[in-house]
Amino acid sequence: MALQQDGNASPEEPNTTNTSLAADDYSDCEQPETCFEFSGHRLKITQHSKTLFGVSAFIWDAGIFLCKYIEKQNMDFTGKKVIELGSGTGLVGIFAGLLGANVTLTDRWHVLDQIKSNVFANIPASALDRCKVCALLWGTDHTHFPSDYDFIFGSDIVYNKDFYTLLPKTLEHLSNAGTEIYLASAMRSQKIVYFHEVTLPQYFKCDLVCNDENRLISIYRLTKKYTEPGK
Ligand SMILES: C[S@@+](CC[C@H](N)C(=O)[O-])C[C@H]1O[C@@H](n2cnc3c(N)ncnc32)[C@H](O)[C@@H]1O
Repeated sequence: MALQQDGNASPEEPNTTNTSLAADDYSDCEQPETCFEFSGHRLKITQHSKTLFGVSAFIWDAGIFLCKYIEKQNMDFTGKKVIELGSGTGLVGIFAGLLGANVTLTDRWHVLDQIKSNVFANIPASALDRCKVCALLWGTDHTHFPSDYDFIFGSDIVYNKDFYTLLPKTLEHLSNAGTEIYLASAMRSQKIVYFHEVTLPQYFKCDLVCNDENRLISIYRLTKKYTEPGK
């Protein structure tokens, strides 16, 4: 699947108040389902018909690769606070929730129904209070969120040059000295490589922790270089 440059980056009003997972009926919007199994958890991810526009409608290989990495590393998020940026279908954030996280899955407004329906389909009712879904527009409303996350995940969220200033700003705000940030990115161009190898290291200590066999997808682990007082 070729990634279209998504110029329509900010059509929505930022708002972080709609975090509840109300039991709406999403059954009439179902589209293709894909099943995955990671760490003994079976995930069924549905692409929502109402969001069949732009990049959010697909399950990107970088997200699948990040889940495999989390599985391979035997990560356990019990009691940990996790946020996912640009969740799309919600695959990575849902997997983190199944591994025990208090997880916030975020994206642009129009994508939230798709994420919510997948959260409902995969997270047991007893664990739904640990999972939030809400809008977070990079560089715009990140300041409405706290800075106490243990983990931040983003898969295939680096694909448009507009994000090269927005994402560092957002990641800086959401993180503290103990936060581990994992970005799984498809290295489609030299600009994307430059962003990971040159731009991000200005703000974070960046380690390339994994490549796929074709070296098309890379996972970087970022930790904060400088910590502001009180963070
Ligand atoms: C290529 S998709 C990746 C989706 C998912 N993480 C995956 O790996 O399948 C990029 C996601 O970033 C979201 N996104 C793009 N620009 C954004 C912005 N300015 N603020 C927040 N999310 C954004 C899109 O809506 C989309 O869901």
